[in-house]
Amino acid sequence: MNILAIETSCDETAIAILSVSGGKNPAFRLRANVVHSQIAIHAPYGGVFPALAKREHSRNIVPVLKEALAQGFGISKSKFLISKEFPTSKIKLLTSILEREPELLKQFLKEIPKIKKPRVDVIAVTHGPGLEPALWVGINFAKALALVWNVPVIPVNHMEGHLFSSFIRGKEFSISKIQFPMLALLVSGGHTELILIKKWGQYKKIGETQDDAAGEAFDKVARMLGLPYPGGPSISALAEIAQKDAERTQKNAEMRLPRPMINSKDFNFSFSGLKTAVLYLLRNLSKKHSSVLQNTRIVQSIAYEFQEAVVDVLVKKTLDAARKYKTRAILLGGGVAENERLRARLTEDVARALPNTTLLLPDKSTTTDNAAMIAIAGYFNSLSKKKRPKNIRAQGNLSL
Ligand code: KG4
Ligand code: ZN
Repeated sequence: MNILAIETSCDETAIAILSVSGGKNPAFRLRANVVHSQIAIHAPYGGVFPALAKREHSRNIVPVLKEALAQGFGISKSKFLISKEFPTSKIKLLTSILEREPELLKQFLKEIPKIKKPRVDVIAVTHGPGLEPALWVGINFAKALALVWNVPVIPVNHMEGHLFSSFIRGKEFSISKIQFPMLALLVSGGHTELILIKKWGQYKKIGETQDDAAGEAFDKVARMLGLPYPGGPSISALAEIAQKDAERTQKNAEMRLPRPMINSKDFNFSFSGLKTAVLYLLRNLSKKHSSVLQNTRIVQSIAYEFQEAVVDVLVKKTLDAARKYKTRAILLGGGVAENERLRARLTEDVARALPNTTLLLPDKSTTTDNAAMIAIAGYFNSLSKKKRPKNIRAQGNLSL
């Protein structure tokens, strides 16, 4: 079975093509995995700007599709060329599907008729959670393609996609050896969740953030420290410099930040107080030092302390949950999974405290949003006997 997956929930326009064989113990071959990032466009705004994201997805999704088909089926772009035109009745339908994306409609009607129908059996598309205007571009594009190619569309939960990102290893991989129950720590710009996985499709959220997501806290603290967006990589780069200087980190007592909810009995998180603590810390420091933000050593030390606080809480709660639910494996997913300190601490602590538990970390290339993970989730959804919604809609706040 060949799945073409589309992901446009935030600031990445992504399309992947995945071949799957083997039923419930599948083997995967990732034929194409194209991600077009909008980070540079949003960076001046310090965050993702939804209307801009929608415009960029509409502009880029047809070129991303052409690239994915070229990668996936080994045909050069010129080989797509077949001169066919859509009948008027189809143009009418496509026009109504893409009426809110006029620029995309124009490109669609110009480019898609030239493309020979590829060997795609099903289209998977992210329908939430995410930015609604951005999600709609992917959904409407999926519907339009499905009409032309006469294939079904499967809606996929973006967070379910992140659950699978730890399994993507190069071009060929399988996920059969890992045993249930599993625990997933999903940490991104919009979510911080602990998910208990009884089997694929059976998820229970056992903890989540009460306020800011972990990635959001990185982004907001970075802004306070005068560092560029996205904040995660900016902060962790500086924190790494401070971390190498053990003497300095020991002397940082005055910069010690709280570990919110670390000892609460539940598996919830809270990061907004930590952000406020950084604000107060900056105020106090500026009484003693002039131009704190210009002081590289101070900024590095705050970055280090902040990262330690976030990582301490994430690791402690994850291990507590794994113990309580006796999970056989721990998965990590979401943009913050790129964080080297989080990866190192999870690796150390799981090996020491839960030596019989498998820890699976995603490759750094699959932590951020991509469509390969959506394709895997789409595959498992295709096996499910649950009825699919007839009319797929964008659901910004969809839960897992
Ligand atoms: O999953 P993702 O690409 O998009 C969402 O669905 O939100 O996550 C993006 C988030 C941003 O908040 C970014 O600052 C954070 O992931 N991030 C990091 C790192 N790289 C990205 N946070 C901490 N350390 C990193 N190295
Ligand atoms: Zn994401």
